[in-house]
Amino acid sequence: MAKHKKRRHQRLPAEPVEVQITGLSTEGRGITHIDGRTVFVDLALQGERVKCKYTARTAKYAEAVAVEILQASPDRVEPACAAFARCGGCRLQHMSSTAQLSLKQKMLFDQLEHIGQVKPQHTLEPLTGPTFAYRYKARLGVRYVEKKDKVLVGFRERGGRYLTDMDACDVLHEKVGKNIRAISDCLYRCHARRSIAQIEVAMGDEQAVMVFRHLEPLDSHDRKLLTDLSQSLAITFYLQAGKPTELEALWPKEPPALFYSLPDHDVKITFQPADFTQVNPVINRKMVTLALHYLQLKAEDKVLDLFSGLGNFSLSMARQCASVTAVEGSLEMVKKARDNARLNNIENVEFIFADLYNEAIKQMPWIKRQYNKILLDPPRSGATAILPLLKKMRAEIIVYVSCHPATLARDAGVLVNELGYTLKQTGIMDMFPHTAHVESIAIFCRINNR
Ligand SMILES: C[S@@+](CC[C@H](N)C(=O)[O-])C[C@H]1O[C@@H](n2cnc3c(N)ncnc32)[C@H](O)[C@@H]1O
Repeated sequence: MAKHKKRRHQRLPAEPVEVQITGLSTEGRGITHIDGRTVFVDLALQGERVKCKYTARTAKYAEAVAVEILQASPDRVEPACAAFARCGGCRLQHMSSTAQLSLKQKMLFDQLEHIGQVKPQHTLEPLTGPTFAYRYKARLGVRYVEKKDKVLVGFRERGGRYLTDMDACDVLHEKVGKNIRAISDCLYRCHARRSIAQIEVAMGDEQAVMVFRHLEPLDSHDRKLLTDLSQSLAITFYLQAGKPTELEALWPKEPPALFYSLPDHDVKITFQPADFTQVNPVINRKMVTLALHYLQLKAEDKVLDLFSGLGNFSLSMARQCASVTAVEGSLEMVKKARDNARLNNIENVEFIFADLYNEAIKQMPWIKRQYNKILLDPPRSGATAILPLLKKMRAEIIVYVSCHPATLARDAGVLVNELGYTLKQTGIMDMFPHTAHVESIAIFCRINNR
């Protein structure tokens, strides 16, 4: 049996050390080198001179946190959020928005070059939107902490083990973000405060929803407290004792369905709190319009939409082309996407349930058909498994929307170096400001003679 090597952590020097930060890691930590070790320094920016304190050290690398900024980078700004230095939700609030965008753009281009050996012909201007109160989807941890005699509600700390003690969150939609303290105070007064484990937050165009996951039944005292809070915040509260789909509406008793709209395309999409929806609605609207623009849709086009979710792109595309075949790996989402097509009176879209990472799709009828345009929007793991099957379709344009530059770069390498496409344009979309997540779009065009 293979032996797992343990990382040996060494005793840490108590005194801070002075260092020059020479780089920035993909997750937003400063990089320096001490005695041949790479040291990742939290809260430090490239080019800064800082005093930092070790937090972990092995033979190969070390982790530290900046405790004093001796010479600040011109990119440094005052973080808006009081909990920034502790909270693991955001890593880049101490960096100006312009510098964040340049960093993300650099990450995208570096990965395309190093992983995919691909260079885009043109760079798209970053797609930008509001940098605070942008987040409409979140899962918040809840924990009663004996030592503090408090219920904590929020994201994990930077170390990852504990929840952050926070009163507010500036990136969450204000209805939730400004009320973190009120929510945790209410949960503290609940008899079941030890058994409420998490809150799922989902916002639509007209409604804010919070789903409270609880491990034991809630008594009438707790239900009253939560109902009062729900009414005072004007947020719909659901209780969830079992599966994410089994929800009990606490207040109001018969809430309307959550929905968001894409006004450019006359599309309205209904969803449930646990469904995948893009977290940032402003960027989502712009992103759908941008993707459609680069697909150059015409009335006769037959489009394939892979990883189609609730039909975010598919329904908008269907308004402009002959037909859309949309494939998604969650049966629940496929059923809801079909409902959404009916709701929008769209009849030229077909939603198909299939695991796009499974060999079995080779036998499915839809993969044997021809499409002249393709939209790909895979999860972080990318679309490698499906790419060889796209070759025969010889689509003119493939628009690839990505939430992970490393897998986009790998797939871009296959599209360009093996399947006969050029990478025409690529650019970042500021879907997750202040975090190190990079959302991007890449437009591939087929070289005619290949
Ligand atoms: C980034 S989301 C995009 C969804 C949709 N395009 C949108 O804009 O809302 C990725 C989607 O891929 C689906 N998915 C994940 N793994 C899959 C698989 N193996 N096969 C098919 N779909 C999968 C997820 O359920 C999710 O809906």
